[in-house]
Amino acid sequence: MSASNRFITVEGVEKSFGSTQALAGVDLEVEQGTVLGLLGRNGAGKTTLVRILATLLAPDKGSVGIAGLDVVRRARMVRSLIGFAGQFAAVDETLTGRENLELVGRLYGLSRFLAHHRADEVLQRLSLTQAADRRVGTYSGGMRRRLDLGASLVGRPEVLIMDEPTTGLDPRTRIELWAFIDELVREGTTLLLTTQYLEEADRLADSIAVIERGRVIAAGSPDQLKQRFGGDVVEVRATNPTDVERLVTLLNGLGSGPPMADLRGQRVTLPTGERVHTLLAAARRIEEAGISVDDLGVRRPSLDDVFLSLTQQTTPQRPTITPAAATA
Ligand SMILES: Nc1ncnc2c1ncn2[C@@H]1O[C@H](COP(=O)(O)OP(=O)(O)O)[C@@H](O)[C@H]1O
Ligand SMILES: [Mg+2]
Repeated sequence: MSASNRFITVEGVEKSFGSTQALAGVDLEVEQGTVLGLLGRNGAGKTTLVRILATLLAPDKGSVGIAGLDVVRRARMVRSLIGFAGQFAAVDETLTGRENLELVGRLYGLSRFLAHHRADEVLQRLSLTQAADRRVGTYSGGMRRRLDLGASLVGRPEVLIMDEPTTGLDPRTRIELWAFIDELVREGTTLLLTTQYLEEADRLADSIAVIERGRVIAAGSPDQLKQRFGGDVVEVRATNPTDVERLVTLLNGLGSGPPMADLRGQRVTLPTGERVHTLLAAARRIEEAGISVDDLGVRRPSLDDVFLSLTQQTTPQRPTITPAAATA
């Protein structure tokens, strides 16, 4: 990557709230016109980082640049380049959808005419035209979310920062939003979005940074992250949920790393560098123990596997039970 391509740079950023260290030294780079997915569980530090990028919060240490502008010293300039859609809707319930967007347009310094025009355009793109003249107080959660995202688009930002844009949306609205995000990226918008969903990062992002306890613990393209995991995954699905923990104990030591359990999915996964050998050994042990399984096979690692293996590096030698891998 050449220096000119580094459109967003984050260097050594630290931030504490009292005795809580939310960010413990974050380094990131985003190329112009690409999507960076910031992936992490609740409390990892995602919102703190995007608020710093959006000039809403100052870092204790380190620096952030957007298009060569320092977000602290050149905050006003930076604000004119970016759009920010926060985790919680920031729209005024007493106004209509259209009024909200026009207000934002006026705050961006657009003329009354242009603000009206842009509001129309955004309402249409987010399928809110029919509800445009209703008060936001009557909107559903998904509609509010879209309106909030719309507000971040009125100023036609070069850089769009979205904090968990699809959390709490129903599956259909989520897919619509993904399509819309694709469209923005095709038009050249640089996008940084946070998510707790691996599937979402895989689907949308050119590069992914996994953040855990205020640090980037892995970064790369979705494929690179999967390759870093190395090898394949043997996956067993238990017939009875009560057997999941037994399977974990049973399969320990067979793979290249500890077995991982997803209790909700009744699955146990085992990383391996020798697919056939591990599969046969696992099958033998399962048969000897007389455990009933619905499924046993080998597959390529998913981002879920990568995330699980990365975020449990604090206790690498012991098998781990995770209540719900998918929402980790
Ligand atoms: N304003 C605040 N005051 C105190 N603690 C905070 C504040 N904002 C965030 N934190 C703490 O910082 C850590 C990171 O939070 P956050 O950035 O919101 O994570 P995420 O968005 O990944 O869920 C958490 O431990 C959180 O409790
Ligand atoms: Mg958050």
